[in-house]
Amino acid sequence: MDKIIGVRVDKTIYRDGMKVIKCFDKNYTKAQVLNEALNQARVEETNLLVPKLISTSTNQEGKWLIEYEYIEGNTLESLMSKNNDSFLEYLDKFITLQMKVHNTEVLMLNKLKDKLNFKIEQTDLLATVRYELRQKLESMPKHNKLCHGDFNPSNIIVNDLGEFYIIDWAHAATGNASADVAFTYLEFMINYGEDKAKIYLQKFCEKSETNEDYIKSWLPIVAAARLNKAKKNEVEFLMSIINARNTFKKRM
Ligand SMILES: Nc1ncnc2c1ncn2[C@@H]1O[C@H](COP(=O)(O)OP(=O)(O)OP(=O)(O)O)[C@@H](O)[C@H]1O
Ligand SMILES: [Mg+2]
Repeated sequence: MDKIIGVRVDKTIYRDGMKVIKCFDKNYTKAQVLNEALNQARVEETNLLVPKLISTSTNQEGKWLIEYEYIEGNTLESLMSKNNDSFLEYLDKFITLQMKVHNTEVLMLNKLKDKLNFKIEQTDLLATVRYELRQKLESMPKHNKLCHGDFNPSNIIVNDLGEFYIIDWAHAATGNASADVAFTYLEFMINYGEDKAKIYLQKFCEKSETNEDYIKSWLPIVAAARLNKAKKNEVEFLMSIINARNTFKKRM
């Protein structure tokens, strides 16, 4: 293997020639790893640019591996941080691509609503809070759009031709695209700062003719869904959104 290109709490990403190998720690279940691979295979059948899935296997330690085609280029995150002056240009392309994802037809993925219900139930929130959040989720309009689930600049690789590849389909599902936008907004709030998050939301809503309050009404739900994988410093922020759930009332 050539080199490690990413170390996460519970997985390591290596480059091996023209392949990328994602090695999952033992706490990942077989089903979780195969779900990521299956999502990738399904999305490969669309006309979105994504790396090809090459194989799934286990190593000598019994850890699960997924091999993907290596995409030569830079993540949009690194391009944004290197060229702050071009942030708005990159953001515009990012939003256009997210809207393209939402307008792409794909069959047989998990349902976002099931996933969100499951994640809310897995939290340590009080039963009454979980119930309220699930009621709120139930009241949301039911759609069937392709949602990446973690659409953020670190999951986009821009190659030398300026083509944007979307990676990391582990959280993909079909459902209401506004929930997907709320996830991205939260990610921006946490990793890129409030100013950039606000610009993202404003630009997305302008371009897609969506009401900002409608996206925000998803925030308590997606904040709860993110709670279990949140880093320590994120929990307080997510809890403040969940606790303010009754102020996110306006839906459309
Ligand atoms: N096919 C690929 N080609 C090139 N680089 C890749 C590829 N897949 C992953 N990477 C690099 O590895 C990083 C992490 O990969 P990926 O996003 O799939 O893992 P992850 O587990 O989702 O990590 P995170 O939770 O931080 O998003 C990417 O941001 C990218 O820099
Ligand atoms: Mg990623």
